[in-house]
Amino acid sequence: MKKLVCLAVLAGMVSLLSAGATAQIKKGKTRPLTTKQLMGGLVKVNCGGIGEALKAAPADDKAWEELATKAALLNEASYTLMDDGRCPDGDWKKAAEMLREGSAAVLAKVEAKDYAGAQAAFKGVTDACGACHKAHKK
Ligand code: HEC
Repeated sequence: MKKLVCLAVLAGMVSLLSAGATAQIKKGKTRPLTTKQLMGGLVKVNCGGIGEALKAAPADDKAWEELATKAALLNEASYTLMDDGRCPDGDWKKAAEMLREGSAAVLAKVEAKDYAGAQAAFKGVTDACGACHKAHKK
C-alpha cells in the first residue's frame, strides 16, 4: 500500500514537472514575452536580415553598421533565451550558447569588415537554430 502511494506521488510529480517544462519552452516564468514573439519579432528578423545582407559584400560603412546591429541583437536574444526560467534543458542551453558564440563570431568579422569570414561565421548561427528547433520546436 505504502509503495502504491509513493508511486502515485511520483507520477503526480512527473506530470507537474513535464507541464512546467512545456510552459518554460513557450514563455519564461514572469515576463510577458512568449518564445513565439521572441522568435518572430527579434530572432527571425535579424537572422534573416544577416542572411539577406551577406548575399553580397556590404557596399559601405552604413551597410556594415546595419550588419553589426543585427548580429548584436541576435547575440542579445541568446541571453533572453536563457533568462526568466525559459530554458528547459541542456539541449536548449547548448543551442542558446551556439547562438551566442555564432553571433559574436559574425559580429567580430563584421567589425573587421571581413566579408568571407562573416559568411563562414554565420553558419554557426543557423546551426544553432536547427539544433534547438530539432529538440524543442513542435
Ligand atoms: C534555444 C532554442 C531556440 C533557438 C536557439 C532558436 N529557436 Fe526558433 N523557436 C524555438 C521554439 C521553442 C519555437 C516554438 C515557439 C512556439 O511556437 O511556442 C521557435 C519558433 C521559431 C519560429 C516560428 C515563430 C512563429 O511565429 O511561429 C521561427 C521563425 C524561428 N523560431 C526562427 C529561429 C531562427 C532563425 C533561429 C536562429 C537564428 C532560432 N529560431 C533559434 C526555439 C529556438
